[in-house]
Order: sequence, then structure tokens, then C-alpha cells
Amino acid sequence: MELNVHALTPRFAAEVTGVDVAQAGGNLAAALKQAWLDAGGLLVVRDQDIASDKHVAFSHRFGPLFGAPGEDPLQETVSIYIHPDHPEIYRVSNQVDSQGKPKGRKGAGTYWHSDVSFRERPAGASILSAKQLPDVGGDTIFCDQTSAYAALSEAMKTLLAPLHAVHDFAQAARTQYASAVVVDDDMAGANKALHPVVRRHAETGAKSLFVNPGFTSHIEGFHEGESAALLGFLYAHCTRPEFLYRHRWSPRDLIIWDNRATMHYAVMDYGDDQPRYLERTTVIGERPVA
Ligand code: OGA
Ligand code: MN
Repeated sequence: MELNVHALTPRFAAEVTGVDVAQAGGNLAAALKQAWLDAGGLLVVRDQDIASDKHVAFSHRFGPLFGAPGEDPLQETVSIYIHPDHPEIYRVSNQVDSQGKPKGRKGAGTYWHSDVSFRERPAGASILSAKQLPDVGGDTIFCDQTSAYAALSEAMKTLLAPLHAVHDFAQAARTQYASAVVVDDDMAGANKALHPVVRRHAETGAKSLFVNPGFTSHIEGFHEGESAALLGFLYAHCTRPEFLYRHRWSPRDLIIWDNRATMHYAVMDYGDDQPRYLERTTVIGERPVA
């Protein structure tokens, strides 16, 4: 099936126009998945006015979903952010309802991270649908961990090859949420895992860096200062402008990103007087391997 695809960066981001994901049968879903893999990890699908149930149905074509009946929940404790009628949908919002209940997670992802990397099986694809956007602001920045890895010296690649890092949800609360919204209960549960620092993509075979400031607490086997210095170098390296794509959301954008090969950062530069609401499904990926 022919898709209308335009690159947004030379390396890892592309956009598709002229499709209706809500109607996606097997052929269209397979073509979109291939375009997403070919793009290098990030595909913006324009103009998708998609109902939540259709969003879930489409997402299932990318693999099992966190929160689906019989699957792991996203986190045991974030149920207030889950869509009441669709346990597969995580809601991002800066608004509260008339009873003061949040309409979604405020300040979600306002630090560099790869979704759910603190699980044994972290996220593969995340699929985020924009329902309500500020007039200006609220962009999301993505980083290409495959190109960042490829640009390292052979000496650094050799150093990283055998290493593993601990990913721990508590890390985000300790550091990244310092000035944002912290919910104590988020720290409960089995939200800790050990993963290779460099992972090989299960579908493309490409190697990517797999550490992120949000959830990676340390590299195993190093002294604390050594781990912090090495991670600090890697974070500065992979967030260089040539590895980034900054998405300015348009109404009805649907973005599919690959948490195995990218990180992202939500820019919270808008006020609560500017409602922002998005719905996300999250595919349960495979266990990362070097
Ligand atoms: C997410 C996330 C980014 C945003 O939903 O995983 O990090 O811009 N959100 O809302
Ligand atoms: Mn995220």
C-alpha cells in the first residue's frame, strides 16, 4: 500500500498524510508500521480525529498493550490517570474536572525519558493522540538514540558493549519531578529493572543507546561518581541538536514513537489557562537485549 510520507528530519522522523487510522485494516496498519520502522522511530500521522476505542484497536496491531485485560497495567498506582472506559489509555492533561479530579497526568514526561523503561518489558511503541492543545507551546522534543549511538567512537562503543544499567521509577521522583507534580504512590510496585546500556532493535537490528535521565539510576559495577560521569556524557551527547526533532503539535496529530530507539521530553511552557489533553496507548515491548 502506497503512503504519502515526508521526512521531518534526515534520520528518524517522518509524517504521513491522507490516511484514516480509525479505518485501518490489516494492510494500512502494516504499511504504517513499516513506515514507522523505516522512518527510524517516529511517525506523525496528521489529521486523525480518532475515538478512544478506535485508537486502542489500531494500537493492538503494534503488539500487546499495557492495561489491556490480562496484561500488566502501566503502573499499579496511576489508575487516576487511566481512561475510565478504556484501561489501555493513559491520559495527559493539565486540567481538573468539576470535582477537582485530574483529567490526566499533569506534567507527564517533562524530562528526558523512554516510556516505562523501569519494567522488565519496557514500552515498544507509544501512540499519542492530541485532543486539545494550547494556542502555542506544549511541544514535545524527541531524540534519536540510534544515530547518537552510531556517532560514538569505537572505543566508547567497546566500553559500553557489556554494560547494564538500573532503571527505577523512583529515580524520576527523586530528580525530575523536583519542581513538578509528585505522587508518592507512583513509587510503589515493581517499577525497577536492569537493562543493557546498548540494545539491539528486535525488528530493525539497529543498535541504540538505552539509558535516560528520567528513569536510569546508575550503571551497574561503577562507583557512583563514575556512573554519573558516564551517564552525564551520554545524555549530553544524545541530546545534541542534530539528534533532535521538536514537534509543534497540530490539532488531531497522532504520533507513534519507538521507545526502543528514542527518548522524549514534554515542554511545559504553557499555563493552566491553556488546556492540553492527549490520550496515549503503550505497547508492551520485548525484553531489551544487547
Ligand atoms: C507521554 C509523554 C509527552 C507530551 O505521553 O509519554 O511523555 O508532550 N507525553 O505530553
Ligand atoms: Mn512519555
